[in-house]
Amino acid sequence: MNDLFLRACRGEAVERTPVWIMRQAGRYMAQYREVRKKHNFWTVCRTPELATMVTMQPIDRFGMDAAILFSDILVGLPAMGLDVDFNPGPQLENPVRTSADIDTLHRFDPLTDLGFVLDAIKSILKEIDGRIPLIGFGGAPLTLAAYMVEGGGSKNFMYLRGLLHEEPRSAKKLMSFLVDTQADYLNAQIDAGVQAIQIFDTWAGHMSRQLYREFVLEPMAQLIERVKRPGVPVIYFIRDAAHVLDLLSSIGADVISVDDKLTLSSVAEMIGPGPSLQGNLDSTVLLGSRKSIHEGVKRVLEDAPKDRGHIFNLSHGILPPTPEENAAYLVETVKRLSLVKET
Ligand code: CP3
Repeated sequence: MNDLFLRACRGEAVERTPVWIMRQAGRYMAQYREVRKKHNFWTVCRTPELATMVTMQPIDRFGMDAAILFSDILVGLPAMGLDVDFNPGPQLENPVRTSADIDTLHRFDPLTDLGFVLDAIKSILKEIDGRIPLIGFGGAPLTLAAYMVEGGGSKNFMYLRGLLHEEPRSAKKLMSFLVDTQADYLNAQIDAGVQAIQIFDTWAGHMSRQLYREFVLEPMAQLIERVKRPGVPVIYFIRDAAHVLDLLSSIGADVISVDDKLTLSSVAEMIGPGPSLQGNLDSTVLLGSRKSIHEGVKRVLEDAPKDRGHIFNLSHGILPPTPEENAAYLVETVKRLSLVKET
C-alpha cells in the first residue's frame, strides 16, 4: 500500500510529499459531468455504486495519494429532519433559528439513517483494493450550524452570529447536538473502514476570536477527542484563521489544513510544535499556466516546515473551470519536485 499520506499525517519520514486535492471528484472532470447529466447530486451521494465510480475517477486519472469518499458535509441534515436542495448551492426550506427549532432536531443513527454512506465506503474500499488510503469526512459543528441557521450559504452569517450573541445557551445546545451527531457519524465511517478523517470547518474563520473561543474551540476539541483512534489521523480544515491559529495547538488534530492567506512556515510558528500541515496552494493558480503551477508548487514545498509532516493540497476546493490537464500537471509536479534525492 502507498501509505505516504498516513505517514505524513503522523509526522513520519516520507520519500516524497503526498498529494490529494480537496473536491478532487467534481465538476472540473468531464467524467463527473457525464454522471451528473444522468443523476442529480443527491442520487450520486445516495447510490453506493455511483459514489464509488466518482470517488475513483480522479484516482484513476491523476494518481493522487489518497481518495476521499464522495459525499457532502450536508448529507446528515435530512436525517436530522432538515430538507436540503442543491441549486447549485445548498438551500434549506426550514432554517433553525430558535431554541424550539433546535429541540425538534433528530439525533439520527448513522447505521440506519445514513447506511448508504457506509455502504459506499465499503464499496470504495473494495475498488481501491489497498492501493491508497480512503479519507472519510464530515462538517464541523460551527460550519454545519452556519448552513442550518442561515438556511444556505451566506456572506456575513447574520443569523448565525445573531444566535451566538443573543441566545448563547441555545447556540451551545446546538453545538453540543452537532458534536454528538458528528461523533456518531464519523465513528461509523471509521468502523466502516476509512483510514483518516477530515473535519471541514469552512466558515469558522469568519467568527471573531472571541466567538471562536466561546463557541467553537471546546466543541471541536470534544469532537476530535471522540473520534480519535490509534492509526486513524484526524485533519482539521479551517480557512481565514490567522486570528485563531495559536488556539489550535490544544484542539487535538493530527493535521491542520489551511488556506493560502499565510505561508505554512508562519502557520507552524503560530500553532507551535506538533501537528502536521496540509495545504496550501492557491486554488486559482490551477486556472493559469504550467509555469505558474510549477512555481506555486515549488514555493509551497520549499516553505513547508521540515519539523513536521506535510500533505500537499490546495487552499480550498478545486474550482470547476480548472482544466483537467492542470490537475494532472499539479499531481505530477508535486511528486517530482518533492522527491528526496539520495546523494
Ligand atoms: O472532495 C471531494 O472530492 C469529496 C466530495 C465533497 C463534496 N462536498 C462534493 C460536492 C466534499 C468533501 C464536500 C464538502 C463540502 N460541502 C464542504 C466543505 C468543503 C468546502 O468546500 O469548504 C462544504 C462547505 C459543502 C457544502 C456544499 N456542497 C456547497 C456549498 C455546495 C455547492 C457549491 C459547489 O461547490 O458546488 C455543495 C455541492 C457539492 N458538494 C458538489 C460536489 C461535487 C457540487 C454538486 C454538483 O455536482 O453540482
